[in-house]
Amino acid sequence: MILITGGNGQLGTELRKLLDEQKQAYVSTDASEMDITDASKTREFITKLKPDIIYHCAAYTAVDKAEDEGKVLDEAINVDGTRNVAEAAQAVGAILVYISTDYVFDGTRKDGMYKETDDTAPLNEYGRTKLLGEQAVAAIMDDYYIIRTSWVFGNYGHNFVFTMQRLAESHPQLTVVNDQFGRPTWTRTLAEFMTFLIREAAPFGIYHLSNEGSCSWYEFAKEILKDKKVEVAPVTSAEYPQKARRPQYSVMDLRKAEALGFEIPDWQTALAKMLAEGKADSAKVE
Ligand SMILES: NC(=O)c1ccc[n+]([C@@H]2O[C@H](COP(=O)([O-])OP(=O)(O)OC[C@H]3O[C@@H](n4cnc5c(N)ncnc54)[C@H](OP(=O)(O)O)[C@@H]3O)[C@@H](O)[C@H]2O)c1
Repeated sequence: MILITGGNGQLGTELRKLLDEQKQAYVSTDASEMDITDASKTREFITKLKPDIIYHCAAYTAVDKAEDEGKVLDEAINVDGTRNVAEAAQAVGAILVYISTDYVFDGTRKDGMYKETDDTAPLNEYGRTKLLGEQAVAAIMDDYYIIRTSWVFGNYGHNFVFTMQRLAESHPQLTVVNDQFGRPTWTRTLAEFMTFLIREAAPFGIYHLSNEGSCSWYEFAKEILKDKKVEVAPVTSAEYPQKARRPQYSVMDLRKAEALGFEIPDWQTALAKMLAEGKADSAKVE
């Protein structure tokens, strides 16, 4: 049996859709069914279900709020919650798939892309707690995958693509930072990789997974809005201050995932497919 945490989030929803297509049975939970910050309820739920595989997608993901008003909750969900899931998973002998982030890196490495073995040094609270989550998983579990991903977008939740599209409806000009570089990731590519690791019984450990290619947020915005009548102007991070510091260059090396035979589409192709899928889905609803 498969268990999903955070099943109603943007990744969890994509994963459910993929498992439905693959005709794989699963139990999907969110805080109302299994609040991962409650250690005894989490243990009870997992002990009763005895899953073979846990896709742990639940997280606190409000990066700026995590700096102040969300600090306690961020720690409770990303550190304590992940520890609770890992302890219960280990007790029933499940494989755990934990999703982490490029924000575990400080982005100062300019001589190449971040490898799985590179030193971590998070700049913000969210990155710090996701890294502590990684460390809890590695300390507690025998059989685990940690997948670090970045700049996640998809059709099922709040993300940069929808934010840009919404702002473009009401603004003739948008300014977007042009000095932070990373790799966008379509939830579909990530969900496919999660199930690929299990299907192929890939070696346990840490993997980096995003779409191929890299860009700045400005370049990402330009591509999202290329068919819209809106001017997109580049600005520096200094001109667009945010509460949480972000890495300037967090492009991750994808060669470990690719060496397994997993084919990774480039981000422009992934974005085009995501937008086409979204249009097809809304046409079905109308
Ligand atoms: N989004 C990104 O750009 C990004 C980048 C790098 C890594 N990641 C990682 O990718 C994973 C998936 O992210 P996402 O974008 O799908 O996040 P998301 O849309 O914010 O979804 C997170 C899910 O976790 C659930 N959750 C929160 N607190 C919980 C609790 N106490 N118990 C159980 N469930 C709880 C949320 O439920 P409610 O909505 O009910 O609170 C939500 O369904 C996370 O591990 C995240 O850290 C994301």
